[in-house]
Amino acid sequence: MKVLVIGSGGREHAICWKISQSSKVDKIFCAPGNGGTDIVDKCSNLNITDIDGLIDFASKENIDLTVVGPEGPLTEGIVDKFKSKGLKIFGPSLKAAQLEGSKIYSKDFMKKYGIKTAEYCTFDDKDSALKYIENCRYPVVIKADGLAAGKGVSICQNYEEASTALNDFMVKDVFKGAGKNVVIEEFLEGVEASILTITDGNIILPFISSKDHKQIYDGGLGPNTGGMGAIAPNPYCTEEVLKDFEKNIMEPTLRGIQQENLDYVGIIFFGIMITKKGVYLLEYNVRMGDPETQAVLPLMKSDFVELVENAIDRKLDKFNLQWKEGASCCVVAASKGYPLKYDTGLKIEGMEKSSNVFAAGVKKENGQFKTSGGRVLVTYGVGNDLNSAVEAAYCNLKKISFPGMYFRTDIGK
Ligand code: AMP
Ligand code: GLY
Repeated sequence: MKVLVIGSGGREHAICWKISQSSKVDKIFCAPGNGGTDIVDKCSNLNITDIDGLIDFASKENIDLTVVGPEGPLTEGIVDKFKSKGLKIFGPSLKAAQLEGSKIYSKDFMKKYGIKTAEYCTFDDKDSALKYIENCRYPVVIKADGLAAGKGVSICQNYEEASTALNDFMVKDVFKGAGKNVVIEEFLEGVEASILTITDGNIILPFISSKDHKQIYDGGLGPNTGGMGAIAPNPYCTEEVLKDFEKNIMEPTLRGIQQENLDYVGIIFFGIMITKKGVYLLEYNVRMGDPETQAVLPLMKSDFVELVENAIDRKLDKFNLQWKEGASCCVVAASKGYPLKYDTGLKIEGMEKSSNVFAAGVKKENGQFKTSGGRVLVTYGVGNDLNSAVEAAYCNLKKISFPGMYFRTDIGK
């Protein structure tokens, strides 16, 4: 098989790495990929990013399967376009991708199908939103309707903070259109978990649970980032929590997908909050998480390509998805200044010495690895338990350095 993977982050490096282990696969292309995907066994980078160009390539190269990493192309309808040309692709349709692409669509979907989620209101004009926050309970959560690169959520402690957020979102238009409409919702207290699942439209099959570490500083302090590290399984996801999740969130989600006639063969990522009053759904993502993928895939025993093919053939009920025993941890090394301003083009030492690296903001220039993004890479470790996985991930990180390299020291601790 020839497989095309779309994306350029650490998640896509992990996906290419896992796909390369499939005996069914001869060749992988990663478009556009990064300095790490290019050196994965069987894999080459492909410098194409536009959907028409990718369709051309997939047709001419006789690509057997395309796997989409990020949400961008999914919400632009890449799956519908590939399918209309008879090309095999794994991911939700444009309409189904609205479950991530529009917070208003996804909250209304949750409400319609009785999925437990925070109470909310939606607004398309600033005056009514401002009126609402005069009398609401604080803290309150304000969310931009559209995609905002993980930055579209503001937790506001009082009226001043909320009116500033509304002004930024709806008037200053800091998210270039994505914040014109907003969701204002109840603040939930609890611990978060990320549950990746796969669906063929007939069933949803959960992966092992995981936990992101979103804030930049140790102890969960400072601004949110794309994620600074992850562990799997998530220690808070007890059997009781998972039962609650499956009954009150996962099963009604499947009913909703079926009743709305959504063409959904792909990953559903459930961002949940485990509270004293049970499990709530915070959000759907229609793709795998980053960095959750870099912790989850190293524990997957099954062949990823077989799993995806079974989903596309709507035979997931027959698939025996298997996981390794033990735990996994990945730690992100970021550029100094991230998630705000940071330099790029800095030399990375030691990448060749560690086998447990997934590159993200890494490019190769004249034979040398250099930084090209905020989150530069992750190192991961797998162990019999969480402590040994954490220790292994940090031990692998010690082999790597670049000027100003920053990482949290408390992932999984
Ligand atoms: P989302 O993009 O909806 O997952 O929101 C991003 C982050 O904001 C989540 O991972 C939570 O940490 C936080 N968040 C979102 N909604 C809520 C809520 N209703 N209550 C508390 N925290 C929230
Ligand atoms: N780690 C959270 C996300 O991928 O959205």
